[in-house]
Amino acid sequence: MNALKQAIQESAKKYHKEFISVRNHLHSHPELSYQEFETSEFIQQQLKQFGIPFEVKATTGVVGLIKGKNPDKRIIALRADIDALPIKEANDVPYKSLKDGLMHACGHDVHTTCLLGAAKILNELKNEWEGTVKLIFQPGEEKNPGGASLLIKEGVLENPTPDAIFGLHVHPQLEVGRYSFRPGQVMASADEIYITIKGKGGHAAAPQLTADTILIASNLVVALQQIISRNNDPLSPSVLSITSFQGGFTTNVIPSEVKLMGTFRAVDEKWRFRAHDLIRELSTSLVNGMGAELDLHIDVGYPSVFNNTELNAVTRKLAEELVGTENVETTEMRMGAEDFGFYTQHIPGCFFRLGTGNVSKGITSGVHTPNFNIDEKAIENGIAMMAWFGATADFNSAKKH
Ligand code: NI
Repeated sequence: MNALKQAIQESAKKYHKEFISVRNHLHSHPELSYQEFETSEFIQQQLKQFGIPFEVKATTGVVGLIKGKNPDKRIIALRADIDALPIKEANDVPYKSLKDGLMHACGHDVHTTCLLGAAKILNELKNEWEGTVKLIFQPGEEKNPGGASLLIKEGVLENPTPDAIFGLHVHPQLEVGRYSFRPGQVMASADEIYITIKGKGGHAAAPQLTADTILIASNLVVALQQIISRNNDPLSPSVLSITSFQGGFTTNVIPSEVKLMGTFRAVDEKWRFRAHDLIRELSTSLVNGMGAELDLHIDVGYPSVFNNTELNAVTRKLAEELVGTENVETTEMRMGAEDFGFYTQHIPGCFFRLGTGNVSKGITSGVHTPNFNIDEKAIENGIAMMAWFGATADFNSAKKH
């Protein structure tokens, strides 16, 4: 295992420059969710060049397979998301986005690069490790319904079914060279709420002849806040935010319609769907009780990300073996969402964070900002870690989710 570790580290170092150029290419050619045509083509070209067989799924997804010795012994999936965001890049770098208004501001260019690098190394070393590695280059992480759900529908977790799946995410708040893991719930589910309140509008001086949709909507915004504080287990994080309130156009007219939008987040899947019922019941009774009609739609988004406990214990040890205990930490839970949660509903998963920040170089901008960037050393680090998990992670004990 020591020889394998050394071989992976040396290869990651040797190919660092090559994969910096890969990342620069991806970074300057960002594409929106489900439109990653050039990106998909580029990934396919790379895999062809490495001699790795692959299939195209969900239009722009690419799924490769590398067989080591005893290919049935263990099957590990490594996943990278490939889509970019509608953000105008503010960085002045030679590899700046060439597409106006589009940017790899969530580091999916880095995720894709790390997986391509790991693929090249795992393929070159395939006589040195046992099992099969499935490479999942996934479209549409940033937008419902989530590329993960489409790939799963197209059978990405079958033939063969992975014992476990790994995904990494860049983390600018973590210094380059560091990694963070967390067993159990690590990210929240995210559902979108759309509410329309319809009533009889009319003259503002004669409210008795109307159903005041502004007043009703105001009451509803306040009332919805008690759902979490009075119904949810206080030890289980959950957030309900009404983020848009639209209605009315002048001072003397009560409008006949008010629209609300918001987001609902949770980490407990049972509570999540109970909360949907509570939101529906409360909204219906309050709005009807105040004389108006309700149109409510909850767009069910990504499930929470659950990191299998045994798998994460094994994984953390492996990470410590590769980079030293002092560089591995426990990550905090976040109420952000990730469609990686779809995979962890089916098989044990480990979603971990890759340190990409560097305070002394001023690399601190958060993801989804126009100044987001990484310390390039993170590319070598991410490649080595993904290759290491692909070659060594063995979780027969963790198979039961
Ligand atoms: Ni992301």
